[in-house]
Amino acid sequence: MKVLIATQKPFTPETVEGVKAILLEKGHEVVLLEKYVEDSELAPVLADADAVIVRSNKITAQLIAQAPKLKIIVRAGAGYDNIDLEAASKAGIVVMNTPGQNANGVAELVIGLMIFMARHQFNPTSGSEIMGKTLGLQAYGNVGRLVGQKAMALGMKILAYDPFLSKEAIESTGAEAVESLEELYRRSDYLSLHIPATPQTIKSINRSLISLLPQNATLVNSARDTIINEDDLLELLKERQDLKYVADVVPHNYEELCKVAGLRVFATPKKMGAQTAEANLNAGLASARQICEYFETGCEKFRVNK
Ligand code: 3PG
Repeated sequence: MKVLIATQKPFTPETVEGVKAILLEKGHEVVLLEKYVEDSELAPVLADADAVIVRSNKITAQLIAQAPKLKIIVRAGAGYDNIDLEAASKAGIVVMNTPGQNANGVAELVIGLMIFMARHQFNPTSGSEIMGKTLGLQAYGNVGRLVGQKAMALGMKILAYDPFLSKEAIESTGAEAVESLEELYRRSDYLSLHIPATPQTIKSINRSLISLLPQNATLVNSARDTIINEDDLLELLKERQDLKYVADVVPHNYEELCKVAGLRVFATPKKMGAQTAEANLNAGLASARQICEYFETGCEKFRVNK
């Protein structure tokens, strides 16, 4: 089978070599397209691929329509909001992700971002410590749990809200399960978002939730820009001189946010949570293995479309 590795934000060279080795060993052909900018560069290469490995680069319905041989798309990572699932399903294409493989990279970044904000972006004025503060985790999946574990070791109190998990499952990890999202926001000095971008969550982090955060709270977004109601965020940062926002994804109104909030707001220039050698390697190799297994046995364990 012809397997295409198509990335705008490339994997490390070690990852590319590892992915290739796994696929070649199983007799597949590998094509590499890195740092492409336009879909028009991807379309002709995708046209005769049987499988494709992507990161957060978009696989649109238009691209799918131009890829008649495509059988499987693997998103080397957790979030798959970059792939048109409906178009893939209609075309009979299996879509998978590699859950958990890059979670540690993201979790470590969240800890770093919290400390960075607590120390006023390393501006030499008196900051604060995260020990003794309460961290609320909105969703307690692979990343949320790892953030909680690390923050607990740093002396933070961990609260978690996840409607898909039982109180017992959450509390067996040492976190406190809270009853409602409102309670989570009311009680968290740091509120870290770990929800996917879906029609239900888009713009769901809005005024009614953010305004519940206590004095001097920091909202941490290592998930997706689209889950935030950025107009509400801007208004609240204007109204509340104590509130902070830090994100691993640049808000659309970043310039305005910086104007009103100064050092109370920060966004990484490019999404970099999973941008580590280890996360790249884990997610890349898992993608290659999943493709080999799918072609060998039909295994659809990590399928995310119907
Ligand atoms: C993910 O959903 O896995 C992360 O956002 C990482 O995305 P990336 O591979 O584009 O860095």
